Amino acid sequence: MSALLRGVLLYGEGEPVDVLIEDGVISRIGAELDAGDAEVVEAQGKVLLPGFVDLHTHLREPGREDTETIATGSAAAALGGYTAVFAMANTDPIADTQLVVEHVWRKGQEVGLVDVHPVGAVTVGLKGDKLAELGTMARSEAGVRVFSDDGHCVHDPLLMRRALEYSKALDAVIAQHAEEPKLTVGAQANEGEVASRLGLAGWPAVAEEAIVARDCLLAKHTGGRLHVCHVSTTGTVDVLRWAKARGTGVSAEVTPHHLLLTDDLLASYDPVNKVNPPLRTSVDVQALRAALAEGVVDCVATDHAPHAPQDKDCEWSSARPGMLGLQTALSVVAQTMVVTELLDWRGVARVMSERPAQIAGLPDQGRPLAEGEPANLALVDPDARWTVRGADFASISDNTPFEGMELPARVVLTMLRGRITAHEGKVCG
Ligand code: DOR
Ligand code: ZN
Repeated sequence: MSALLRGVLLYGEGEPVDVLIEDGVISRIGAELDAGDAEVVEAQGKVLLPGFVDLHTHLREPGREDTETIATGSAAAALGGYTAVFAMANTDPIADTQLVVEHVWRKGQEVGLVDVHPVGAVTVGLKGDKLAELGTMARSEAGVRVFSDDGHCVHDPLLMRRALEYSKALDAVIAQHAEEPKLTVGAQANEGEVASRLGLAGWPAVAEEAIVARDCLLAKHTGGRLHVCHVSTTGTVDVLRWAKARGTGVSAEVTPHHLLLTDDLLASYDPVNKVNPPLRTSVDVQALRAALAEGVVDCVATDHAPHAPQDKDCEWSSARPGMLGLQTALSVVAQTMVVTELLDWRGVARVMSERPAQIAGLPDQGRPLAEGEPANLALVDPDARWTVRGADFASISDNTPFEGMELPARVVLTMLRGRITAHEGKVCG
């Protein structure tokens, strides 16, 4: 199968060019290319980027197929411009064995819309008291290279030390959900003025920062590789800057929702805004945007967290934390980083594709837009404006905090190894 993208702007820069894709690779880039028998996509003025890589996706299969499946999550990912996603381990059963990670990997391949890489649990059952079989999962068909207890913090420092030691031997990375559990017992919202006014128990910034600081010290001590999930506070940015300056093996992600939303939204008591870590203040939002632009925070990851209506449309304290992200990520990044001129489109390629691919060690993702490179691509209409409707998403769930918002820029086409997986808002299966 071959395709010709006509008139695209590579990374949004320079003169429009045609891009010919044959046998899964970019075979030619140039002006007025001959299409031959290739399918022609008229793409004048559209921005061509490497396909996005999400280091943090909850696909809910196995166990909660009423909220999302590998098939529906893959469709959402393709529509959002993603060509690879990392499926978090907090499924049921938990992805802490070869059996489960291979099941997720095979199912993802079968669906074929996006590469679904299972994340392996760090500890057995995410219980935090015994290391899972990291080596077995790494050597399995799924080739697991990212391990995380996400949803829970690996709070035992000795276990975290051992996991980081393993990460070196396995050429893997330990993705930490940084939350000191003793500081967040009963926590419902960012500790601060808004939570006090609403009478919600506070989740203090220091609960994140203390773990990030500890783990950066452990990563430096062991020579292992740490990745910090969903950075949400100014203090964490300061710790990361310090740790990176002294040569620590640490990387970090920020979610689209932490780049845009603040705890002021909690006044509505609408649990669609409940998430872990919680929405913070506008000071934090500004610090996170600056850190992403500067590279102190390496990349954007969605923390796409589908939930059933009965787990969201209820009283705040009993609602589950989490929000959808795959189909809105690019637009929220455009709104917070491109419209504000903190990043250009080349910068978007860095934070949504190149850096996450490097962190996870994916050789064929996040590659340069050049002849001979694999055709994992996202085509973006930079001038589009659209209104978010959760009900229209490919996800089974509709818990988006961006409902009704008008956002800039939209993914119009996604290609996985030369095959179109989504086009004009439709999945191509
Ligand atoms: O908000 C969140 N939701 N944070 C997490 O760490 C887990 C996730 C989920 O699984 O729903
Ligand atoms: Zn988490």
